Amino acid sequence: MAKTGIEKGEAMEMPPLPEVFFPMEKALEKRREAGTLRNLRSMEPMDGGRVRVGDRILVNFSGNDYLGLSRDPLLLQRGEEFARYFGAGATASRLICGNFSCMEAVEKKIARMKGFESVLMLASGYQANLSLLAALCDRKTLIFSDRLNHNSLIQGARLSGGKIIRFRHNDLSHLEKLLCNAPEETRKCIVTESVFSMDGDVPDLEGLSRLAAIHQALLLVDEAHATGVLGDQGMGLVKPGMAHAVVGTFGKGAGVFGAYVAGPALLKEYLVNEMGGFVFSTALPPSVIGMVDASLDRMAEMDAERVHLTALGNRLRLGLQKLGFDTGASSTQIVPVMMGDAKTALALSAHLEKEGFLGVAIRPPTVPEGESRIRLSLCALHSKKDVEGLIRAFSTFTVIA
Ligand SMILES: Cc1ncc(COP(=O)(O)O)c(C=O)c1O
Repeated sequence: MAKTGIEKGEAMEMPPLPEVFFPMEKALEKRREAGTLRNLRSMEPMDGGRVRVGDRILVNFSGNDYLGLSRDPLLLQRGEEFARYFGAGATASRLICGNFSCMEAVEKKIARMKGFESVLMLASGYQANLSLLAALCDRKTLIFSDRLNHNSLIQGARLSGGKIIRFRHNDLSHLEKLLCNAPEETRKCIVTESVFSMDGDVPDLEGLSRLAAIHQALLLVDEAHATGVLGDQGMGLVKPGMAHAVVGTFGKGAGVFGAYVAGPALLKEYLVNEMGGFVFSTALPPSVIGMVDASLDRMAEMDAERVHLTALGNRLRLGLQKLGFDTGASSTQIVPVMMGDAKTALALSAHLEKEGFLGVAIRPPTVPEGESRIRLSLCALHSKKDVEGLIRAFSTFTVIA
């Protein structure tokens, strides 16, 4: 019998991608037409809240390094120390042999600063949300999710198999109505963010906490954009006793990478056993743990920077509103400038770049259809002069019909 190519050890040429499964070109064309095609741009981070793009240096109003810690010498030094002592990688998941002493020490530090009983660190906020919801909820769970929740929370809810019930953004009376309609005996989980990533607004956390208690629902709050910026020592807005589980991230205000889940000790023990994203994934590298450790030390002493950020946010909103721009319900370091149409948002972004500012356009599906915007984010390293310059750049934008 004639030998097949595999038996003869010959290289086989792959047939083209079967279009029925991957109509990629069509999908990309659709995006191109709608002005929602994304592409990767190469950039170099620089000091002072700046970024080099090509041969130009722009003031970066699009990053999440809210405190400017990503280039902080203490973080870099401790990252190096931890790497030299513990090695470059964790070598395995924590349940196998990757549970180095530095990880437990940093988890205890986070728990102490946050005022929660226990903390479990995870590779990223996306991984934390995805696997936390999948571990906590099942097909019998009703998941009450704010309409503007981050994609990682939506995907986690989907992965769990639970029934997703979306409530109007930050609308507690709508949520209450939906909770009242749910059968009493079903498991319920309410999911929200403490600072919404694309809108920079804040929910009524105490009200949510009350509703969760009344309806015996589990309350999960994602503090990704509050971490480093808001609350005592920059540890976020959820105080002990206000929620059952909190997710915080270290890739944004903390300037590093990674995430944590805080909650009761029972939750941690459960997640160590049942959370796929923890059990089946290599632990964070020691250098990252070292940088997070230093970042927590720096965050605790940065009240002045947080006051400065608040002042910059207030000035920016006021300046833009006076020019007639809509900054939504923002009250934090995230200031959206609502443009509606994706192409207009792109045109404004290009104009800002010409004027020396990076203000990236955020388009569907990251935000709802018709709600394209420039998402401005402030950094404690920005000066008042930077913000005045940005406002001036907005004042010279004209929409070309
Ligand atoms: C609200 C929210 N949660 C979670 C994440 C994911 O966090 P990470 O970047 O650590 O994966 C993001 C990222 O943008 C976010 O905005």
